[in-house]
Amino acid sequence: MRIHTCLAFQVLLPCLFGSLPAAIPAAEEKLKANADTRYEYRQQHDPNGIGKFYLGREIAHVMGHQAADWLERPEREDEEKPELLLKALKLKPGDAVADIGAGTGYYSWRMAKAVGESGLVYAVDIQQEMLDLLAQKMAERKITNVKGVLGTITDPKLKSNSLDLVLMVDVYHEFDHPCEMLQAICQALKPDGRVVFIEFRAEDPKVPIKEVHKMSAAQVRKEMSVQPLEWMETIETLPWQHIIIFKKKAQPTRSVNSPKP
Ligand SMILES: C[S@@+](CC[C@H](N)C(=O)[O-])C[C@H]1O[C@@H](n2cnc3c(N)ncnc32)[C@H](O)[C@@H]1O
Repeated sequence: MRIHTCLAFQVLLPCLFGSLPAAIPAAEEKLKANADTRYEYRQQHDPNGIGKFYLGREIAHVMGHQAADWLERPEREDEEKPELLLKALKLKPGDAVADIGAGTGYYSWRMAKAVGESGLVYAVDIQQEMLDLLAQKMAERKITNVKGVLGTITDPKLKSNSLDLVLMVDVYHEFDHPCEMLQAICQALKPDGRVVFIEFRAEDPKVPIKEVHKMSAAQVRKEMSVQPLEWMETIETLPWQHIIIFKKKAQPTRSVNSPKP
């Protein structure tokens, strides 16, 4: 993976962001070619972005595993108030959930506690190095209900109809194929399953994050309007981030009396 240094945070710790793995398997390359009409490429773009645009938004570089320490910085508790996010998720014991773009598992272990021993957290990432760090952290915390999953840039590799909730913290804006990822995520949700986006507020210039690493609530809703999702609520209890919650749309059911196609 090619890595270059950049400052995602304008005033906070520097972190490393890298481009995606150079070798993309053939099947994914094919899917990429078919899907590329959805995406626009511009020569002139933000240096913190990859020059690829989705519905008017530039996609950011993926954060490299070399910056993993930054995800565990002590000041993060004050900046993000994870306990407030967990409260907003309203998880129940026994829930099956996924933390997509889990990184070192900063939110995976918190969700694991909330769903309890009868529940399960799938921690998905595209970097094996992140999953190795995550496994180490879960072992240190004696957490046994988090399962690491190596996803790809188009597929989180989750079972259909299996999840009550999918959480994405500070990751959606760096998905190389946001549309394909969300299609796969919707497929993995149970009926009524929820998808939760945590993104730094683009509407607030005081949030000290580079532009392509932020998203407005309106942009998230615009991008989700093409998915089988229904917006539920946007919660603004976190210091810097939106909590934006969607629910899987009910599938139309055919009544017993309706004619067969
Ligand atoms: C900025 S980190 C956030 C990590 C974690 N959510 C947190 O808040 O601590 C973004 C993570 O998303 C991962 N990522 C990027 N694109 C992904 C994709 N398409 N599927 C799964 N993980 C992805 C990166 O490898 C990286 O570990």
